[in-house]
Amino acid sequence: MPEVKLDGVTKRYGKVTAVDHLDLIVRDGEILTLLGPSGCGKTTTLRCIAGFIVPDEGRIFLGEEEVTRLPPEKRDIGFVFQNYALWPHMTVFQNLAFGLQLRHTPREEIRQRVREVLSLVRFFRNGGSLSPPAFRRATTAGGVGPGVSASTPGTSPG
Ligand SMILES: Nc1ncnc2c1ncn2[C@@H]1O[C@H](COP(=O)(O)OP(=O)(O)O)[C@@H](O)[C@H]1O
Ligand SMILES: [Mg+2]
Repeated sequence: MPEVKLDGVTKRYGKVTAVDHLDLIVRDGEILTLLGPSGCGKTTTLRCIAGFIVPDEGRIFLGEEEVTRLPPEKRDIGFVFQNYALWPHMTVFQNLAFGLQLRHTPREEIRQRVREVLSLVRFFRNGGSLSPPAFRRATTAGGVGPGVSASTPGTSPG
């Protein structure tokens, strides 16, 4: 995973400044938690990094590349939404495989990567309806999974 760098990122919604000149560096292999009261700008920050929101000011880098205005599908960033979702007409496997299929990943590699992320989140069953914890595990796997191999150094704490 390349270094993530925010340089003076600001996002306003009308008169509300959701994120105010935020400077931040997340290094390769680092796990960072944003902790703060509701409304302090955590989600807005993550959405800027993923590309769902373009900041009003400031710049965002992934490694050497500036991505401030790059759309989310070109950033190769996983995102687990707060109100998480799976497509109900697909199995867990199909949900997780979908992003890789769009990228024309070979079938055997898809199978292996989906297995890896499911094991990473300790999701062991499929079929029937999902309990809430199983649902969360599956959606978390979706956020980790599509672009990223669970065995690459960038996804481990070290
Ligand atoms: N789409 C939006 N339109 C208007 N205001 C928003 C929108 N999203 C967030 N905000 C406002 O921006 C501020 C930061 O919100 P948010 O990033 O969701 O905070 P957090 O995730 O830390 O709870 C809040 O005041 C919130 O009401
Ligand atoms: Mg939030």
